[in-house]
Amino acid sequence: MRTALSQAIAEAPADLSATAPRHVAIIMDGNGRWAASRHLPRVAGHREGARAVRRTIEAAMRHGVKWLTIYAFSSENWRRSAGEVLDLTGLLRQYLRTEIAELASNGVRLRFIGDRTRFDPDIQQDLTQAERGTSGNSRLNLTVALSYGARAEILAAARAMGEAVRDGKFDPDALTEEGFAQFLSTDGIPDPDLIIRTSGEQRLSNFLLWQAAYAELAFLDVLWPDFTEAHFAAAMADYSRRERRFGARPA
Ligand code: FPP
Repeated sequence: MRTALSQAIAEAPADLSATAPRHVAIIMDGNGRWAASRHLPRVAGHREGARAVRRTIEAAMRHGVKWLTIYAFSSENWRRSAGEVLDLTGLLRQYLRTEIAELASNGVRLRFIGDRTRFDPDIQQDLTQAERGTSGNSRLNLTVALSYGARAEILAAARAMGEAVRDGKFDPDALTEEGFAQFLSTDGIPDPDLIIRTSGEQRLSNFLLWQAAYAELAFLDVLWPDFTEAHFAAAMADYSRRERRFGARPA
């Protein structure tokens, strides 16, 4: 049976456009407002948000994007009501159990960044298993940020570096930006070229702060559950028109 995901793969261009971003990262915002506008509980927005995640993975594959990172749960999200945290972790559990097999068989490699030790042991186990089970794939590299906060990530990297210096394993004079980046949880993942945030809010909310140094930003006026392939395509088209200088003057 041909699934939507395998269909997306079949439709991916063989010759990728030189203007397509290699790495797209998404701050999926607006689930709560989507639910409130329909007089539904917040969990209904998150559920619909999970469907939008599925559509987005398909869209990324169709557009030949090789790296996709999604912000599914921030370190600050633990401060939401106990009920909503339970709903979100329940959805994550369900997502891991129902979607991973299909992602794996369609060439998706999964990685998770963030403090996974805060999740229940069964979820931690599923995360490790999903990473191990898909480590040989390379069609799409999907990174899910869970219990993630960029400042905590940078602090952990600084701490690890400090320990390496203390133990005589690292010469601080030899430190480079690339060397420091190896201590981050995104080691091995290219920096995002494009960061999309939905729901009209215009901020990064502690997402990939180091890695976002030269990313193009796209703030879309659509609530995450309403995000479709057309929005993804529009963001791709807008990106292709931008001139990226990485701090240099135009030639
Ligand atoms: C922001 O909306 C979204 C989240 C806090 C969670 C993102 C979760 C999903 C998209 C669904 C689950 C995903 C997976 C991978 C299982 P918000 O609640 O902050 O919305 P609001 O700002 O309108 O209140």
